[in-house]
Amino acid sequence: MKTILKNPAYSLKDFRILPSYTDETHKAADVSLRTPLCRCGADFIHLNLPFLSAAMHAVTGIEMATTLSTLGGVGVLPLIASIEEQCRMVRAVKRYKAGFQTDILTFSPEQKIRELRNVMEKTSYSIFPVTDSGLFHGRLMGVITDKDFDPRFDLDRDIKEKMKTALHVGVEVDDLKEANRLMIEYGRGFLPIVTREGTLQSVVFKKDMDRHIRHPEAAVDARKRHLVGAAVSTHPEDRARIEALVQSDVDFLVIDASDGFTVFQKETLQWIKHHFTTPAIAGNIVTGEAFQMLAELKADAVKIGMGIGSGCTTQEVKATGRGQATAIMEIAKARNEYYKKTNTYIPLIADGGINSPIDIAVALALGADSVMMGNFFARFAESPGKLVKAGGKYVKEYWMEGSRKAFNLRRYHQSAATFFEEGVVGYVPYEGSIFDAIPVAGQRLKATLSTAGVSNIRELHENAVLELQTITAREAGGIHDMTVRRCC
Ligand code: IMP
Repeated sequence: MKTILKNPAYSLKDFRILPSYTDETHKAADVSLRTPLCRCGADFIHLNLPFLSAAMHAVTGIEMATTLSTLGGVGVLPLIASIEEQCRMVRAVKRYKAGFQTDILTFSPEQKIRELRNVMEKTSYSIFPVTDSGLFHGRLMGVITDKDFDPRFDLDRDIKEKMKTALHVGVEVDDLKEANRLMIEYGRGFLPIVTREGTLQSVVFKKDMDRHIRHPEAAVDARKRHLVGAAVSTHPEDRARIEALVQSDVDFLVIDASDGFTVFQKETLQWIKHHFTTPAIAGNIVTGEAFQMLAELKADAVKIGMGIGSGCTTQEVKATGRGQATAIMEIAKARNEYYKKTNTYIPLIADGGINSPIDIAVALALGADSVMMGNFFARFAESPGKLVKAGGKYVKEYWMEGSRKAFNLRRYHQSAATFFEEGVVGYVPYEGSIFDAIPVAGQRLKATLSTAGVSNIRELHENAVLELQTITAREAGGIHDMTVRRCC
């Protein structure tokens, strides 16, 4: 029978959090942002920062995943067409040791300086290892930098004529402090790490290392390897993908579907649960009824959101979707009831339309345990999108998974012949490195929790007081009656 719900759906932007009494145990500096990401057997995988980078081609690659997990969050690698490529990326993140790069561009001695110069111009990197095969894990023959050749005379010379061969290296070093000591001893900002036989294993850059030493809160597994997730679709041909990802040691799978309340989601989740112990995050859903189905199928976490992504056109082209705040409230209620009945706590991930620390705070206060963001992360140097200068400002490319550019048919259960777009292609402002921005976003979130009179996300769920705002109340909460001078 047809149902018409008369209550309107609310967005995250409709709410504000009221202050509660802040005592000395709620100081912002002491607030913890540790949170359960998903169930893992009888336990949970935890994050130290409640942020996931979205499973989108424009958002999460190896660099985003390793950087975000260094800061305590986690990246979800998108549904890349090639299974091998997605698994290679998972392995690269798992092999990555904070500060040790295992996947940088490498040249062979026979390549021309011209090729090297082209790569330098495109990437703005200035230092490259040279190996016998030209591959990263070849035998280290030398190192070449932009200072070692003169582009006026040397472009047609072989790299071997100009590279430095008297090298300072670390042999089988896997400890950052030891790498640091060697760099100080050699007076270098770059240290290749080789095996006893001289094969290149990794490289350490001083600037990376300094950052990692400053961030001890990395999200890591029991073997201290960085956490990473990977998206899989509900299509039966993706079963081989799931198997390959599990073999590549992915920490959790994300069943990536725009609508997770389907028989396809059900069958995929059942199949994963029957064959593997790797946690499976299901979704996306926006109703309590859908939560009930996924909980009974033993989803290890559930992702919430439909039709509210920043560049999403689902509501416009299909009339389906729901205000994100209402979806979180209804599902958090269903989750809490399920927990009371079964003693099984299923973490919730709010996904879509979360573009600032304000949206993050409201989503968490309404009951989400963590948030997944696309637009927010696409802005940073570590996202895979191109950096472009437009109208005198730097912007990054951002395209949605339902756009023609991504052509992710499986996420939307579409066929190539009748494809229609559910998302757009565009740009977002460039905001530098997440190493600079995320600690500030984390601190703002801690300050919100402190004002709400709580010291962690669990207490925020239990005690937060949220209030709906009128449009005028919201306007009065922003800057008004003055012109802002951007001075510094
Ligand atoms: P954003 O952080 O607001 O940009 O939203 C990102 C989220 O939007 C992703 O994590 C997906 O759940 C969702 N999404 C990605 N691409 C599309 C699309 O083309 N249409 C609708 N939703 C999308």
